[in-house]
Amino acid sequence: HRDLTGIGQLERHEILYLLDEAEQWVELNRRSNKHHDALAGLTIINAFFENSTRTLLSFEIAGKRLGADVVNMHAAQSSVKKGETLIDTAITLNAMNADAIVIRHGSSGATQLIASKVDCPVLNAGDGQHEHPTQALLDALALREALSDRGEPSEDFTGLTVVICGDIMHSRVARSNLLCLQALGASVRLCAPPALMPLGVEAMGAEVFHDFDAALQGADVVMMLRLQSERMSGQFIPSEREFHHLYGLTRARLDAAAPEALVMHPGPMNRGVEIDSDVADMGDRSLITRQVEMGVAIRMTCLDVLTRSARGVEGWAV
Ligand code: CP
Repeated sequence: HRDLTGIGQLERHEILYLLDEAEQWVELNRRSNKHHDALAGLTIINAFFENSTRTLLSFEIAGKRLGADVVNMHAAQSSVKKGETLIDTAITLNAMNADAIVIRHGSSGATQLIASKVDCPVLNAGDGQHEHPTQALLDALALREALSDRGEPSEDFTGLTVVICGDIMHSRVARSNLLCLQALGASVRLCAPPALMPLGVEAMGAEVFHDFDAALQGADVVMMLRLQSERMSGQFIPSEREFHHLYGLTRARLDAAAPEALVMHPGPMNRGVEIDSDVADMGDRSLITRQVEMGVAIRMTCLDVLTRSARGVEGWAV
């Protein structure tokens, strides 16, 4: 079987395959009867060692819509609190014959570690500052759908300029999106204060900005990220007021971008800090709720595709 630990492990054609597969689930999710039995009889465990609203609920909904039995393990109520290690937790979940395990964890590489200890596919629902691959896939699907609705359908993002602005340093969403957007042909500009910009992103092909107004010039898509203060203990933490002044997306600032530029945010948002409400709630130009909707379809796709070999269905058909 294969795991989904990061966008870095996927080829461009595999990303496109997953986006194409997701279209059927977008359609199903808009019907009144959303039930399908592709995963009937399978057991999926969502093991979340960090808080989540969107990712946990959408993986749960995705598994249930496909007919699987879904159980959620919240670390705060688990034996992790009694000192059980991550490896022993993984061995315990494995002994319950799970057919897929979805992991969110605060340590980069935790998903890979669990994948090496269990017999079923492991899906990364966010590991520390490393990757959040299903977020990047759902972002790509939301963007592709929005372009199609505008009458600009395109298989990939060749010719598009995407700005990702905010706390790039601590963001697994930024890393996964950089890899995914570039694989699909977009030019990516990363913008953050110097203290929140990781080293080495230029070598990954990103254009680096510290001046948000310069980064926005002519951009087609603006993706905003929150300050991840939970990952900043002992480090420089900008004040929210200062951050908003220099890096907050306001309606006036957005005018420097391309006409009708699209706005994205993975959530959770801090309104009035990295993004103003009049931008977040801007109707068709804000993809934020569409991103959430596409999250369910992408997670259905990943659960379906990754469990195919175990179900005797033709495997990762790319
Ligand atoms: N975007 C995202 O991962 O949100 P949650 O932390 O609520 O899952």
